[in-house]
Amino acid sequence: MAAGIRVVAGLAPALAVLLSGCSVAEGLRVGFPTASRIGRGESVARNVCAACHAVRPGQASARSGAPTFMTISRRYTPRGLDRELDAIAEVGHYGMPVIRITPNDQRDLIAYIASLRPPAADR
Ligand code: HEC
Repeated sequence: MAAGIRVVAGLAPALAVLLSGCSVAEGLRVGFPTASRIGRGESVARNVCAACHAVRPGQASARSGAPTFMTISRRYTPRGLDRELDAIAEVGHYGMPVIRITPNDQRDLIAYIASLRPPAADR
Protein backbone atom coordinates (compact mmCIF):
# COMPACT_ATOMS: atom_id res chain seq x y z
CA MET A 1 0.00 0.00 0.00
CA ALA A 2 2.64 2.49 1.11
CA ALA A 3 4.85 1.40 -1.75
CA GLY A 4 1.99 2.02 -4.18
CA ILE A 5 1.51 5.55 -2.95
CA ARG A 6 5.22 6.26 -3.23
CA VAL A 7 5.24 5.06 -6.83
CA VAL A 8 2.27 7.27 -7.74
CA ALA A 9 3.79 10.26 -5.95
CA GLY A 10 7.04 9.65 -7.78
CA LEU A 11 5.30 9.57 -11.16
CA ALA A 12 3.30 12.76 -10.69
CA PRO A 13 6.11 15.28 -11.37
CA ALA A 14 7.28 13.31 -14.40
CA LEU A 15 3.74 13.27 -15.74
CA ALA A 16 3.32 16.99 -15.09
CA VAL A 17 6.53 17.77 -17.01
CA LEU A 18 5.42 15.53 -19.85
CA LEU A 19 1.97 17.10 -20.13
CA SER A 20 3.14 20.71 -19.85
CA GLY A 21 5.92 19.92 -22.34
CA CYS A 22 3.30 18.85 -24.88
CA SER A 23 1.03 21.85 -24.58
CA VAL A 24 3.93 24.32 -24.58
CA ALA A 25 5.45 22.72 -27.67
CA GLU A 26 2.11 22.73 -29.49
CA GLY A 27 1.39 26.32 -28.49
CA LEU A 28 4.76 27.41 -29.86
CA ARG A 29 4.25 25.51 -33.08
CA VAL A 30 0.84 26.99 -33.85
CA GLY A 31 1.87 30.35 -32.40
CA PHE A 32 -0.05 33.59 -32.27
CA PRO A 33 -1.17 34.97 -35.62
CA THR A 34 0.68 38.28 -35.71
CA ALA A 35 0.45 40.40 -38.87
CA SER A 36 4.06 39.62 -39.83
CA ARG A 37 3.45 35.87 -39.46
CA ILE A 38 0.36 36.13 -41.64
CA GLY A 39 2.39 38.05 -44.25
CA ARG A 40 5.22 35.52 -44.26
CA GLY A 41 2.67 32.71 -44.40
CA GLU A 42 1.12 34.20 -47.50
CA SER A 43 4.55 34.23 -49.19
CA VAL A 44 5.07 30.56 -48.29
CA ALA A 45 1.61 29.78 -49.68
CA ARG A 46 2.36 31.57 -52.95
CA ASN A 47 5.78 29.97 -53.32
CA VAL A 48 5.02 26.40 -52.25
CA CYS A 49 1.27 25.76 -52.50
CA ALA A 50 -0.15 28.05 -55.21
CA ALA A 51 0.89 25.74 -58.07
CA CYS A 52 -2.10 23.60 -57.05
CA HIS A 53 -4.21 25.44 -54.46
CA ALA A 54 -5.98 28.80 -54.70
CA VAL A 55 -4.25 30.57 -51.82
CA ARG A 56 -6.23 33.82 -51.94
CA PRO A 57 -9.99 34.34 -51.58
CA GLY A 58 -11.89 34.51 -54.85
CA GLN A 59 -9.42 32.40 -56.85
CA ALA A 60 -9.96 28.93 -58.29
CA SER A 61 -7.34 26.22 -57.64
CA ALA A 62 -4.89 25.54 -60.46
CA ARG A 63 -5.05 21.77 -59.82
CA SER A 64 -8.53 20.33 -59.99
CA GLY A 65 -9.36 18.52 -56.77
CA ALA A 66 -7.09 20.72 -54.66
CA PRO A 67 -9.36 22.58 -52.22
CA THR A 68 -8.97 26.35 -52.02
CA PHE A 69 -7.30 27.74 -48.91
CA MET A 70 -10.65 29.36 -48.05
CA THR A 71 -12.15 25.87 -47.89
CA ILE A 72 -9.17 24.55 -45.92
CA SER A 73 -9.58 27.42 -43.44
CA ARG A 74 -13.17 26.33 -42.83
CA ARG A 75 -12.30 22.64 -42.51
CA TYR A 76 -9.42 22.86 -40.05
CA THR A 77 -8.69 24.58 -36.78
CA PRO A 78 -5.08 25.84 -36.57
CA ARG A 79 -4.10 22.82 -34.44
CA GLY A 80 -5.89 20.41 -36.73
CA LEU A 81 -4.11 21.92 -39.70
CA ASP A 82 -0.77 21.65 -37.90
CA ARG A 83 -1.37 17.90 -37.46
CA GLU A 84 -2.58 17.52 -41.05
CA LEU A 85 0.53 19.26 -42.42
CA ASP A 86 2.72 17.01 -40.25
CA ALA A 87 0.93 14.01 -41.76
CA ILE A 88 1.25 15.41 -45.30
CA ALA A 89 5.00 15.82 -44.69
CA GLU A 90 5.15 12.07 -43.98
CA VAL A 91 2.64 10.44 -46.31
CA GLY A 92 1.02 13.12 -48.50
CA HIS A 93 -2.76 13.37 -48.76
CA TYR A 94 -4.50 11.27 -51.47
CA GLY A 95 -3.78 13.30 -54.61
CA MET A 96 -1.33 15.59 -52.82
CA PRO A 97 2.36 14.66 -52.81
CA VAL A 98 4.57 14.66 -49.71
CA ILE A 99 5.61 18.27 -49.09
CA ARG A 100 7.93 19.22 -46.24
CA ILE A 101 8.35 22.79 -45.06
CA THR A 102 10.27 24.14 -42.07
CA PRO A 103 8.47 24.39 -38.69
CA ASN A 104 8.63 28.21 -38.94
CA ASP A 105 7.10 28.21 -42.40
CA GLN A 106 4.42 25.81 -41.20
CA ARG A 107 3.56 28.07 -38.27
CA ASP A 108 3.37 31.14 -40.55
CA LEU A 109 1.31 29.30 -43.14
CA ILE A 110 -1.18 28.21 -40.47
CA ALA A 111 -1.50 31.82 -39.30
CA TYR A 112 -2.20 32.90 -42.89
CA ILE A 113 -4.79 30.18 -43.52
CA ALA A 114 -6.49 30.88 -40.17
CA SER A 115 -6.71 34.56 -41.17
CA LEU A 116 -8.86 33.54 -44.18
CA ARG A 117 -11.41 31.84 -41.93
CA PRO A 118 -14.73 33.65 -42.23
CA PRO A 119 -16.55 34.72 -39.06
CA ALA A 120 -18.56 31.86 -37.50
CA ALA A 121 -21.90 33.20 -38.80
CA ASP A 122 -20.74 32.88 -42.45
CA ARG A 123 -19.01 29.49 -42.26
C1 HEC B 1 1.36 19.35 -56.55
C2 HEC B 1 0.10 19.95 -56.16
C3 HEC B 1 -0.04 20.40 -54.71
C4 HEC B 1 0.78 21.23 -53.99
C5 HEC B 1 2.06 21.91 -54.44
C6 HEC B 1 0.16 21.37 -52.68
N1 HEC B 1 -0.99 20.63 -52.62
FE1 HEC B 1 -2.23 20.44 -51.01
N2 HEC B 1 -3.40 19.18 -52.05
C7 HEC B 1 -3.28 18.90 -53.39
C8 HEC B 1 -4.40 18.07 -53.82
C9 HEC B 1 -4.64 17.56 -55.23
C10 HEC B 1 -5.19 17.88 -52.67
C11 HEC B 1 -6.46 17.08 -52.56
C12 HEC B 1 -6.07 15.70 -52.20
C13 HEC B 1 -7.25 14.83 -52.03
O1 HEC B 1 -7.97 15.02 -51.03
O2 HEC B 1 -7.42 13.98 -52.89
C14 HEC B 1 -4.53 18.57 -51.56
C15 HEC B 1 -4.99 18.58 -50.27
C16 HEC B 1 -4.48 19.38 -49.27
C17 HEC B 1 -4.97 19.41 -47.90
C18 HEC B 1 -6.10 18.57 -47.33
C19 HEC B 1 -7.39 19.28 -47.61
C20 HEC B 1 -8.57 18.57 -47.04
O3 HEC B 1 -9.65 18.85 -47.53
O4 HEC B 1 -8.46 17.77 -46.12
C21 HEC B 1 -4.24 20.35 -47.23
C22 HEC B 1 -4.39 20.76 -45.78
C23 HEC B 1 -3.27 20.87 -48.18
N3 HEC B 1 -3.43 20.25 -49.40
C24 HEC B 1 -2.37 21.86 -47.88
C25 HEC B 1 -1.34 22.25 -48.73
C26 HEC B 1 -0.34 23.23 -48.39
C27 HEC B 1 -0.32 24.01 -47.07
C28 HEC B 1 0.51 23.32 -49.43
C29 HEC B 1 1.77 24.14 -49.53
C30 HEC B 1 2.74 23.94 -48.46
C31 HEC B 1 0.05 22.38 -50.45
N4 HEC B 1 -1.08 21.77 -49.98
C32 HEC B 1 0.68 22.16 -51.67
C33 HEC B 1 -2.25 19.27 -54.23
C34 HEC B 1 -1.17 20.04 -53.84
